[in-house]
Amino acid sequence: ALPYDLVGLKFLISAGGTREPLDPVRYLGNRSSGKQGYALARAAAQRGAQVTLVAGATADLADPAGVEVIRIATAAQLSEEISKRAPETDVVIMAAAVADFRPVHLSGAKIKKSDKGPAPIELTTNPDILAGLVRARRAGEIPDTTSIVGFAAETGDEHHGVLDHGRAKLARKGCDLLVVNAVGDGKAFGMDHNTGWILAAGGDETALPLGSKTLMASRILDAITVLRPDGGGT
Ligand code: PMT
Repeated sequence: ALPYDLVGLKFLISAGGTREPLDPVRYLGNRSSGKQGYALARAAAQRGAQVTLVAGATADLADPAGVEVIRIATAAQLSEEISKRAPETDVVIMAAAVADFRPVHLSGAKIKKSDKGPAPIELTTNPDILAGLVRARRAGEIPDTTSIVGFAAETGDEHHGVLDHGRAKLARKGCDLLVVNAVGDGKAFGMDHNTGWILAAGGDETALPLGSKTLMASRILDAITVLRPDGGGT
């Protein structure tokens, strides 16, 4: 049976992919299905947490029972929903695949084919929501007791950079835990299984052998309870 150890804790979890519009019919998006973030939300609620799930574009997934679900499309909307709730939250988990860039111009009308060939798409950088949460905590706008968990999607394998990239990203982003997923070659995105590592700011590294996203979720929640003085009880 699942432990019932997250009672009294508020979780804020992002899932799915963001979509950055180009014109009324086109967008820049990614292959996230939301399955990993939804599995986390479901598992946290089953363990007694009060869970809010902020979901971008996903596969056709049912809302997890007992979870408040908020829908967003763009990275800017995700940022707004996460930032306003984070100060009241005990654990924030950023499992969403957030677009790093968005088109500078949003055309009000469908972009037409032209004789000159395709027009270049000019992009600008989206703010990093996860890094912003860490900055806000350092500035005292989010309590010290709020745990911040990030994900990293990296191509390669253990011997070709995934772990090193993950360690560097953990240091750069400054979050408490970073879940590193190996992606590409049909891994992680959209699949029912996942594999990787959980890296803790304190230096602990836990390998996550290939398993269901549900199993992965419970191992991530276990790692969070280890971090927290109020978690991991009975
Ligand atoms: O949705 P599934 O199909 O189940 O697949 C799961 C997953 C592979 C999408 C998921 O497990 C995962 O790895 N999500 C994060 C993917 C990602 O965007 O990684 P990243 O390395 O680009 O970003 C690192 C972290 O910063 C992530 O926590 C991301 O949410 C966050 N981020 C990124 C960019 C940005 N502008 N703001 C952010 O907060």
